[in-house]
Amino acid sequence: MSAPSCDTRPAGDLPPCMLVIFGASGDLTRRKLIPALFSMFRQGILPRPFAIVGCSRSVMDSEAFREALRRETVKREEEAGAWNGFATLIHYRSIQYDQESFTGLRTFLRDLDNAVGTGGNRVYDLAVPPQLYPVIASLLGGTGLAREESGGNGWTRIVIEKPFGHDLESARELNQTLHRSFRESQIFRIDHYLAKETVQNMLVFRFANSIFEPVWNRHHIEYVGIMAAESLGIGSRAGYYEEAGVLRDMFQNHLMQLLVLTGMEPPCLLESDAVQDEKVKVIRSLRDFNTEHGSRICLGQYTAGEIDQTAVPGYREEAGVSPRSRTPTFALLELYIDNWRWQNVPFLLISGKRLPRKVTRIVVQFREVPHRLFRNLLGNTIGANRLTIETFPDEAIRLTFQSKEPGASLCLRSMTMDFTYGEQYQKSSLDAYARVLLDCMAGDHMLFWRQDGIEQSWAFLTPVLRQCEQCLDRETRLHPYPAGTWGPAPVRATVERLLAP
Ligand SMILES: NC(=O)c1ccc[n+]([C@@H]2O[C@H](COP(=O)([O-])OP(=O)(O)OC[C@H]3O[C@@H](n4cnc5c(N)ncnc54)[C@H](OP(=O)(O)O)[C@@H]3O)[C@@H](O)[C@H]2O)c1
Repeated sequence: MSAPSCDTRPAGDLPPCMLVIFGASGDLTRRKLIPALFSMFRQGILPRPFAIVGCSRSVMDSEAFREALRRETVKREEEAGAWNGFATLIHYRSIQYDQESFTGLRTFLRDLDNAVGTGGNRVYDLAVPPQLYPVIASLLGGTGLAREESGGNGWTRIVIEKPFGHDLESARELNQTLHRSFRESQIFRIDHYLAKETVQNMLVFRFANSIFEPVWNRHHIEYVGIMAAESLGIGSRAGYYEEAGVLRDMFQNHLMQLLVLTGMEPPCLLESDAVQDEKVKVIRSLRDFNTEHGSRICLGQYTAGEIDQTAVPGYREEAGVSPRSRTPTFALLELYIDNWRWQNVPFLLISGKRLPRKVTRIVVQFREVPHRLFRNLLGNTIGANRLTIETFPDEAIRLTFQSKEPGASLCLRSMTMDFTYGEQYQKSSLDAYARVLLDCMAGDHMLFWRQDGIEQSWAFLTPVLRQCEQCLDRETRLHPYPAGTWGPAPVRATVERLLAP
C-alpha cells in the first residue's frame, strides 16, 4: 500500500494576516465565521500573527463583542481555556458606511497592523446584506484600503458571500464595481458548498481513479440527479427569501457548482485557472432552457404540514411572507449539457424547503445491462448500478450493484459498497467555512467562483427566472405541497427515486 500523501498546510505556512469582518454584529459572523475561526485556532492552523477586526454600526467595545461571541461559540467547558487565547485576537470597531468613518478605520487598521505584526496583509469579509457589497467595495477603494503596497508589503483580498447579484445584469454591475477597486485575483466569491469534503473529493474521485472516467458519459449513464433537500423553512429570512425564492437561493450557486463538478472535463493542471476554465465550459454548454427542447421545470410552494411529528405553517403563513406570495420554495429543473460526453443525458436538479429531511447528494444512475441474461428467472426487475455521492446526512460515496444471494436458488439482491468519511478517517474534516477562509488567506482561488463563471451561471438562469416570473398563469404553475412530503405530487416519484440507497 502506498503511503498517504496530504497537503495539510501546517501552521506557520500561511502569511501573517488580519481578517476584517464587516457586518460583525450579524448572524453569519456569530454562527459561521467565528466558530470556524475558533476551530482553526484550536487546530493550530491560523496564520501567525493573526488578528480579527469586527466592524459594524452597532456600538460596543471589543470586550462586549468578544463576550457576545463567546456566549454563542463556547459550547463545552473544556473549550473555555482555548477561547481565552483566541479572544485576544479579536477586536471591534464601530463604523458607518461613509468616507469619514472608513478614513478613521484606515488609521485604526494601520496601527493594529503595526502593533500585531500582520504586515499589511488583509482579508475583508463582507458579512453584510448584499446591497452593501458595492458600497463597502467602493469605500475600501476610495480610502486606499484596497490598495496593495508595491514591493510586497501587504496584500488585500475581498470575500463576497452569496447572493452575488439577483440576475445577470446585477451580477455584471457588481463585478464592475468590485473591479474599480480590486483586481480579479483579489476577489473571492464564496460558495461554501464547494468546501465540503465530499464535493472536493469529486475531483479526486473522478480524476485520480482510472475506472470511473471511461464510463462517465452518455453511453453508460442514464441520468444524473443533484438534490439539496432541506427540512427547515425560511426561519427569520422572509425578506430575503421572498425576493430570492429557491432558484436564486440554491440553483444559481450551489446546485450549479455540483452540476459543473459532475459534468466537467479533466483540467490539464490542478491549478485554479485550469479548473475554472473547465467549469465555465460546462455552463456554456448548457442547452438553452426551453420546454420544447426537453427542458422540464416544476415549481412548488409548501403548505402547512408536519415535520418530525411537529405541525409547521405553510409558506404563506410564515412571518413576513405575503399571504398571496408566489415565491417558489421547491424546484425541479431538468437540464442538458450539449457536448459529446453528455448529449441527451438528463441532469435533474432538485431543491426544496420543508421536505421530510435534509439530504444533499449527487446520484449517478447507470444504464441497465444491455442483455438481460436473468430475464427468464427474474423478469425485468434487475436494478442498474448507481453511484451516490452524499454530503448530508453522511459524507459518503456509495456504489450499488447486483449480487447473488447465498443458497441453491438464483436470487439477486442489490448490494451497496459504502465509503463513509466519518468511519474511514478518524480526524474530523475541516468545517466548510474554515476551509474557504484558509484558502482565501493562502490566495488559492480553486474553491471560489471566477467572474466569467458567475456571469455564465446567471446568463443561463436569468431567462428561466424571467419565464417563471412573467408567465401569466404563474399561480397555477406553482404546485402546492404539504410540508413534510417530498415535493409537489407531479414530481414526487422522481424525487423519491433519488432517495434510494
Ligand atoms: N447567515 C447565514 O447563514 C448566511 C449564509 C449564506 C450567506 N449569507 C449572506 O451573508 C451576508 C450576511 O448574512 P447575515 O445573516 O449575517 O446578515 P444580517 O445578520 O442580516 O446582517 C449582518 C449585519 O449587517 C448590518 N446591517 C444589516 N442591515 C444593514 C443595512 N441596511 N445597512 C447597514 N448595515 C446593515 C447589521 O449590523 P449593524 O446594524 O451593527 O451594522 C447586521 O448585524 C448576507 O449577504 C447573507 O445573504 C448568510
